[in-house]
Amino acid sequence: MRRSLVVGNWKMNMLISDATDWVGSLLGKPPFPETVEVVVAPPFTALAAVEERIRRSCISLAGQNIGPEPEGARTGEISAAMLKDAGCRFVILGHSERRQHFFETDAFISRKIGVALASGLGVIFCVGESLEERESEHTRQVIEHQLSEGLNGLDVRQFEGLVIAYEPVWAIGTGRTATPEQAQHVHRIIRDWARQAFGENSAENVRILYGGSVTPETSGPLTVQPDIDGLLVGGASLKSDSFYDIICSIK
Ligand code: 13P
Repeated sequence: MRRSLVVGNWKMNMLISDATDWVGSLLGKPPFPETVEVVVAPPFTALAAVEERIRRSCISLAGQNIGPEPEGARTGEISAAMLKDAGCRFVILGHSERRQHFFETDAFISRKIGVALASGLGVIFCVGESLEERESEHTRQVIEHQLSEGLNGLDVRQFEGLVIAYEPVWAIGTGRTATPEQAQHVHRIIRDWARQAFGENSAENVRILYGGSVTPETSGPLTVQPDIDGLLVGGASLKSDSFYDIICSIK
């Protein structure tokens, strides 16, 4: 049985004071359903403040990025070990914003995944097609390519450290959420791919999240789908009220 997972990705938003207000407000609400695991990914500057406030709660912490080397002379980079040290359980890698704005390639992402897993960080690995790729009916090909390149060389045990997030680029920040049927279709492709690459058990156990303009209205119907195990939420995670409503709507 896969435990539902809701991750709030704050991206480049929230000052420390906003972040601490957010945690205070979320933890002030009635407890979440125990069936749902909740993770928040603040910017690096707010990690420590958030970590301190969620320490004895059921929320855990993720980082939004790491550098591809374990340590050394890489001015401006943050290592996997540093995120672990700061209290993170996960790191988000392969996000389309990093592919698009920072020119991250599949091979580069794959190196980062290796470093993260070796440090004991769980990886939330994002894949997704552009609108053009969808409209030209290349979705399956694009997703399978991102999976096989990004996860190249991993063994079954390493694969267990992964959560996969399907985030269609056309749905991110556009208000155009994928329909539950569109998302389920691609989630099934991802699980089938995992079965081929890592076997039945790994495929059944891996959690596959949907991300892209998720709101409290769309979250319930999405997570009813058999292969949608949770959500990666951007904009709607910035307000504790809507994030809480999303958590409580998980089916
Ligand atoms: P939005 O929910 O703002 O579309 O962002 C989704 C996302 O990219 C989460 O990682």
